[in-house]
Amino acid sequence: MALLAELTHRCPLACPYCSNPLQLERGTDELDTETWRRILDEAARLGVLQVHFSGGEPLARRDLEHLIAHAAACGLYTNLITSGLPLSAARAGALAAAGLDHAQLSLQDTEAAGADLFGGAHNILARKTEAAAVLRAAGLPITLNAVMHRRNLHHLDAMIDTAVRFGAGRLEVAHVQYYGWALRNRAALMPTRPQIDRATEIVTAARTRLSGVLVIDYVVPDYYASRPKACMGGWGQRFLNVDPVGRVLPCHAATTIPGLQFDTVREKSLAEIWADSTAFNRFRGTDWMPEPCRSCERKEIDWAGCRCQALALTGDAAATDPACTLSPLHTEMFSIAQNEAAGDAPEFIYRRMDGE
Ligand code: SF4
Ligand code: FES
Repeated sequence: MALLAELTHRCPLACPYCSNPLQLERGTDELDTETWRRILDEAARLGVLQVHFSGGEPLARRDLEHLIAHAAACGLYTNLITSGLPLSAARAGALAAAGLDHAQLSLQDTEAAGADLFGGAHNILARKTEAAAVLRAAGLPITLNAVMHRRNLHHLDAMIDTAVRFGAGRLEVAHVQYYGWALRNRAALMPTRPQIDRATEIVTAARTRLSGVLVIDYVVPDYYASRPKACMGGWGQRFLNVDPVGRVLPCHAATTIPGLQFDTVREKSLAEIWADSTAFNRFRGTDWMPEPCRSCERKEIDWAGCRCQALALTGDAAATDPACTLSPLHTEMFSIAQNEAAGDAPEFIYRRMDGE
């Protein structure tokens, strides 16, 4: 089991494909250090093995080193998901000394202008190059998370070269997933089918060429897939997400689903919420599934796909994920992708706190 600890929504970047909710939480409402320490204790007792410190930008929390040290003391594997922008050599050393096991660094583009355009800030590429260097100097293994879309897929070869140059052991070629801000910017981000086919060829060739040097994770984006992914490894089966204000969610986008009630760690223990919360039980297992999933042999493989995507595309979170060719809305989903990718890309709507 894995815990995504969303420590904060504060972030120096404003990526238009951010999976955070459109309504971001303010720093003043965040959980305090003591509550996070209790969450980590409870997570370890519940059977969680890995904790992913995320955000927003988790480095915005001054207590990050304390939380990593506490997680390590609980026997949890710790991963930091970061933009890398606020990272100094001293802080990277402190994180490693606290017991951080691994860092996952995002990459917007391999050209400075593109990185700034896609990240909504200045001088991003140079600062990430420096972040990769200080993480490696601190002895931390890194994964590069290259977020790909219609505006940067022609740089995929260069992304792979950059991962090798940064000393990453793993590269995630992460096609944008359309939740949160990415859903709002879908037409500005959606690639064409030929772009996807070319990306698949590049990744296949690179995996052979870089065998033993770089592991490349690659998943075809849902809009061009024929079967859905097992989102979160199945709802309420392996994964929980605590958001910055303490709500415990079965996935990072679950607050988009109307009618679900989310319990908070301010009122209940993680174990109580995991076992009894109506939100975790709503789509757990297979009893809730409609046809064609209910009688499908893959229902315990992909768990009917993604609830948040089903909601976004059908208006019903309990519908079969339209990424599946057996969904009556699969053709419509494919048409949305084709039409949006063929049109002119609109301007980005950047991820911002209200009023900024
Ligand atoms: Fe998965 Fe449902 Fe499609 Fe079967 S019908 S492959 S369970 S989404
Ligand atoms: Fe919520 Fe897939 S993102 S279930």
